[in-house]
Amino acid sequence: MHILVINGSPKGEKSNSYQLTKAFLEGIKQEAAGAEIRERAVCRMEIKPCLGCFLCWNRTPGKCCIGDDMEQLIQDLLWADITVWSFPLYYYTVPGSLKNLIDRQLPMLLPFMEETEGQAGNGGHPSRYDMSEKRTVVISTCGFYTAEGNYDGVCNLFDHLCGQGNYTKIFCGQGELFRVPELSSVTGDYLSSVEQAGREYAGGGISAQSRERLAQLLLPRETFEACADASWGIEKESIETGKNGDAKKVSDTLAFTKQMAALYRKESWPGRDIVLEMCYTDVEERYQIVMGKDGSHVCTDGTLTADTRIETPVAVWRSIAAGEIRGDEAMMQGLYRVKGDFKLMLKWDDYFGGSRPQAKREQETFAQKNTDMSILLIPWIVLWVAVSVSRQKGCLIGIAVCALVPLVFYRNKKTLYDVISGVLVPGFCIAMLIGISEKQMLPVSYLTFGVMWLASCFGERIPLTAHYSKNGYGGEKALQNPLFIKTNRILTMLWGILYLFTAVGSWFMMRSALSSLSGLINSVLPVLMGIFTVWFQRWYPARVARGK
Ligand SMILES: Cc1cc2nc3c(=O)[nH]c(=O)nc-3n(C[C@H](O)[C@H](O)[C@H](O)COP(=O)(O)O)c2cc1C
Repeated sequence: MHILVINGSPKGEKSNSYQLTKAFLEGIKQEAAGAEIRERAVCRMEIKPCLGCFLCWNRTPGKCCIGDDMEQLIQDLLWADITVWSFPLYYYTVPGSLKNLIDRQLPMLLPFMEETEGQAGNGGHPSRYDMSEKRTVVISTCGFYTAEGNYDGVCNLFDHLCGQGNYTKIFCGQGELFRVPELSSVTGDYLSSVEQAGREYAGGGISAQSRERLAQLLLPRETFEACADASWGIEKESIETGKNGDAKKVSDTLAFTKQMAALYRKESWPGRDIVLEMCYTDVEERYQIVMGKDGSHVCTDGTLTADTRIETPVAVWRSIAAGEIRGDEAMMQGLYRVKGDFKLMLKWDDYFGGSRPQAKREQETFAQKNTDMSILLIPWIVLWVAVSVSRQKGCLIGIAVCALVPLVFYRNKKTLYDVISGVLVPGFCIAMLIGISEKQMLPVSYLTFGVMWLASCFGERIPLTAHYSKNGYGGEKALQNPLFIKTNRILTMLWGILYLFTAVGSWFMMRSALSSLSGLINSVLPVLMGIFTVWFQRWYPARVARGK
């Protein structure tokens, strides 16, 4: 399979539309491993405008009198089985340089008047070459909030070039979002859908389901437009129609803060308004974003009491927004400080990821399976409490619980530690049923449990608690957050150590009058430790954020 990509954006590889094209090609490559791809960027080619001399029809049939890169491009077009046209929408049609290229395809036509089957419009010229088996894909982004209703010019053009509807199209509004790293979760989902479309295309055709996904808006209209308007750094109200140069520029930091505010997700409103103060330390400017039930606004007079205050040099915050440095990493390095309520930082993506259409969020919620620490803990707690009361019955209950837990929690995602526990607990029960004393087995089980927690803390491993607490901090993404991992590593170690001590304590308790109560007594410390964990999870990251 020969694929020619014509990238018609003046931005070349940095083009928004080209991001979609790359994803589409990736999908094709996964399905058709032997696909050969040639890429041509119009911005790097010399393609002069057509002179309209018709010499390519009469004096030098099939050959243009202008000797530039178009000669090779025609060879590429003839070589390709599939041509992918990738370009931005400019004034409701293709960019001028691409239109030049299209005009310069004239040598590929014969001069005679002849209409072909399926051709749009009236009148036409037959092709000089057999193009009947060739396929066309058109991929484009535009700046408006939707592609719908804006591509009639492009569709008309390709209807004439390829035959009515005889091409595959992917048109996407809000194209400028593809260059905003902060929104990569939104655009990344879309690019995955484009990749899927590429796979389906190579396998026969894009499914209705994929088409539906590709037609969805990246952000709701009002969020997108507020963000886009703020990005120009010009006060909309200050522009008087008909006058030049009167537009009032707002400061860069204010424009930037307004963009941030526009990305606020009102559906994350926690039941009361939150005031986030952005304090740009190097330029000594500060603005307050009020995050309310119905949206957000920026307050410039600084009169409100801030819940959370971020003190940062502009460059640092810009680098974070541009994806050059992770926000959590910058915080760990002390590049910025957070004062006041730290909760907002822990749920940053929920507040500022940009609202996504309802249907999409519902799909995600449905698809996402969470882990649950109960799956890990219940078998162990049952073992320790039940066996310390009655060995025989306790062991049978322990085995039964291990068999039942997966059924009760079938909706949850299992972790390695759930599986290990599901094997170890019945193992201990069976060992005691066949005669090994609980005085030995219970302390060994505490020891094993503690070792399992400690072992997860060493090397590059993700500490055990992180596998469970990630659910409350954005899921898998939280595992890349060094502060989250460090907090969990400390907690996991403390829990591990607690159970090592518990092992020793129960060894002696099992040999004393308190033997039957050992399970209950050993549960008191974990309760206290649980309370400490809840407090520490908030306190420690907030302490780091304050620069301590
Ligand atoms: C000269 C010019 C004309 C444009 N015309 C339109 C337009 O008619 N409709 C639209 O939605 N966006 C329009 N845009 C926005 C671009 O289509 C949008 O920014 C696109 O994502 C750029 O894609 P690229 O990065 O692939 O070049 C225009 C941009 C420029 C520079």
